[in-house]
Amino acid sequence: MAFFEKTGITHLRLVNFRSYARLDLTLEPTCMPIVLTGHNGAGKTNILEAISFLTPGRGLRSARLTDVARRENADISLPSDVGVLPVRWSVAAQIISPLGKVSIGTGTQDGSDRRQIRIDGKQTTKQADLSQYIRCLWLTPAQDRLFCGDPVSRRRFLDRLVGAFDATHATRLSDYNTALKQWNSLLREGRFDTAWLEGLEAQLVANGVAIAASRLDVVSRIQNYLAVAESDLFPTAEIHLTGILEKELQTQAAVDVEDMFALRLKQARKVCAEGGNLTGPHTADFTVIHQQKNRDAGLCSTGEQKALLLSIILAEMRAMMQEQGLSPLLLLDEVAAHLDSRRRNVLFDILAQRPAQVWMTGTDESAFTYLTGRASFFDVEESQVHLQQVA
Ligand SMILES: Nc1ncnc2c1ncn2[C@@H]1O[C@H](COP(=O)(O)OP(=O)(O)OP(=O)(O)O)[C@@H](O)[C@H]1O
Ligand SMILES: [Mg+2]
Repeated sequence: MAFFEKTGITHLRLVNFRSYARLDLTLEPTCMPIVLTGHNGAGKTNILEAISFLTPGRGLRSARLTDVARRENADISLPSDVGVLPVRWSVAAQIISPLGKVSIGTGTQDGSDRRQIRIDGKQTTKQADLSQYIRCLWLTPAQDRLFCGDPVSRRRFLDRLVGAFDATHATRLSDYNTALKQWNSLLREGRFDTAWLEGLEAQLVANGVAIAASRLDVVSRIQNYLAVAESDLFPTAEIHLTGILEKELQTQAAVDVEDMFALRLKQARKVCAEGGNLTGPHTADFTVIHQQKNRDAGLCSTGEQKALLLSIILAEMRAMMQEQGLSPLLLLDEVAAHLDSRRRNVLFDILAQRPAQVWMTGTDESAFTYLTGRASFFDVEESQVHLQQVA
């Protein structure tokens, strides 16, 4: 039995989180994968989402914090901001991390949409502090057609990869987005307060160029590890970034890119005041090519697209392990969907050897038979979780 070398949860407690009034889940201190199976609506994804809240951001559903709070049956159809009393929710975990044992708690106070965070009982306002102890990557059914949909979800996927590598990325993104929102509203309301605009533009330039630089850096690291495929069944992905700053940074010094962006922002004031849009890190995108087939990911089959996403995530995990000595927790919702049994089993072989916890869900228990003896199995039924079998 392999003991944690890096990161894993040994106890998870949910209070008023989604469908869970309360859940206490104790896990063996091993790094065996954890498999949660149960019917539709049983509460599997809610557990993965709860774990994702132990890292910076809004979790794997990008939810509003008020939507996460448990609602009584009668309230579920109501939008969160209409006549529903806000509920206090929390997720707490005991974690074995590279820095030793740590307890992390997060949640909201009644009525607040700010996330409180406690690390070993001490409150912190910096979400990035969480990254010292735990990092997380995930794949959900919503990402199954990532390459065919809107760039927003692709950017989110990319930024999660970058954030797992670079703990400051999520904060920079959030500062950039806040400044951009303020800049746009000043202009659209016709408030040409030069000092205020210049202050916001300085923040946009500093954060924007840092965001683009981090994206470029992480993509090139992942690309290096992608070149050495884990298995022939997981295709080699070629990733290309298409953002304007990302492109400029490939050929020019960061200070020059900052100056050019500052100038573009100044010039864009008039157009944006009239309802036009600015291009920047918030409009960047990335394309992925299935190298063996020399085909754009958007044209690949659903299973091939999922295999590409898994290749990227596995390459990132190897890069993090080699370069930072960190292994992120992996949350794979509906992991078996779209994968043929050969690919699924190769994936399970790879995951069973990871030095950090991998959480997987599925409706069909038989899809995980290959992992018997190498994973902990839990039944999820009506938001109750029972240990089924420990190897
Ligand atoms: N804020 C909330 N309060 C109470 N229940 C909620 C809340 N948000 C979601 N739910 C409910 O939680 C239940 C379990 O959801 P979850 O997504 O975890 O199911 P699942 O087991 O992953 O199902 P599937 O196999 O269909 O993906 C659902 O019935 C959902 O409506
Ligand atoms: Mg689900």
